Amino acid sequence: MEVQNVLHMTPGEGKTSYAMNSEYQKRAIIKAKPIVEEAITDLYCKTVPRSMAIADLGCSSGPNTLLVISEIVEAISLMCQKLGHRSPELQVYLNDLPGNDFNTIFKSIPFFVEKHRTDKENEFGPCFMSGIPGSFYERLFPAETLDFVHSSNSLHYLSQVPHGIENNKGNIYIAATSPPNVPIAYFTQFQMDFTLFLSLRSAELVPGGRMVITILGRRNIDPSSKEHCDSWELLAQSLRDMVYQGLVDEAKLDSFNLPLYSPCLEEVKAVIEEQGSFHLNLLEAFDAEGDTNYDYEKEVEFDDFIKAVSRTVRAVTESMLVSHFGEEILEELFDKYAKYVGQYIGKEKNKYVNLIMSMTKKG
Ligand SMILES: C[S@@+](CC[C@H](N)C(=O)[O-])C[C@H]1O[C@@H](n2cnc3c(N)ncnc32)[C@H](O)[C@@H]1O
Repeated sequence: MEVQNVLHMTPGEGKTSYAMNSEYQKRAIIKAKPIVEEAITDLYCKTVPRSMAIADLGCSSGPNTLLVISEIVEAISLMCQKLGHRSPELQVYLNDLPGNDFNTIFKSIPFFVEKHRTDKENEFGPCFMSGIPGSFYERLFPAETLDFVHSSNSLHYLSQVPHGIENNKGNIYIAATSPPNVPIAYFTQFQMDFTLFLSLRSAELVPGGRMVITILGRRNIDPSSKEHCDSWELLAQSLRDMVYQGLVDEAKLDSFNLPLYSPCLEEVKAVIEEQGSFHLNLLEAFDAEGDTNYDYEKEVEFDDFIKAVSRTVRAVTESMLVSHFGEEILEELFDKYAKYVGQYIGKEKNKYVNLIMSMTKKG
């Protein structure tokens, strides 16, 4: 799978789109807000800049894209208000892979800018926004031009499916039944990708520039721990059922693996220290609140709830599944997936762990 050409979240604003099924990722953005505010405040107070260049990497499309930018803009406005300053000019870059639905974002930008201008007057400076299609595993910006880099729920995507895992048959990620070379290959790919990412961003950030990143991760050092693998295991189980029913070719399933890796805190810390360009101010794990656990007190029908969980996973995996298996399997696959989610809830507490890190580029 050529990740760069294939991967995109489900576009548009329809029922199965990422825009309509990204509540879980939104909670992670909200949870990370105080850490983003701290980084912005520190950056502003140290430099009192006349202009600031900000990039959100892996921005996707939908309400979360501009929610992140709102958080950043509001943190700057608040500082300016406190200090009695005029807001700096803001250059905001929204990056994602070329297949991303940039058009939907662009349509919402005039409303976003107008709203902030009306709400904040002097504390909202000119704001220039642009889309940057390309992989964050390549250079995206000229040297030393960025002040702040943000990325949420995106850096657990690898640049490619790790090599040498053809023996991971019947699985689509690291599973309890994966041969021992599989977790090693995934971790090696993560190490290479994350090291490259840090080197590229270090070239693009000004000295003292800040970076806040949230990714799907784990607390447990065992990469096949239940913490984060269950979603992928339920998807693999649904695909195995379809093989059993003759709806999916077994060889097709055997040759499919997801280009993702959810690292633990120790793995992230080791790569940052080894790469050496950044001072790590903070690294911690958190559970995104109100995750995919069914709340029996809520007035949401159980059936609607499991379908919503299924659509959340569909919105982030659909492009990869369609490219490998074809579009015709989708409805049946995610009906099965919803049923497995239904059986799983109640038996297990489904945990999604996020890692958040805040860094400063060394001077
Ligand atoms: C789950 S979405 C998260 C979107 C948004 N940041 C949020 O929090 O809702 C992950 C995004 O990362 C993007 N992505 C994955 N790999 C990428 C890469 N190498 N370069 C740029 N974007 C990438 C995907 O296309 C997708 O839009």
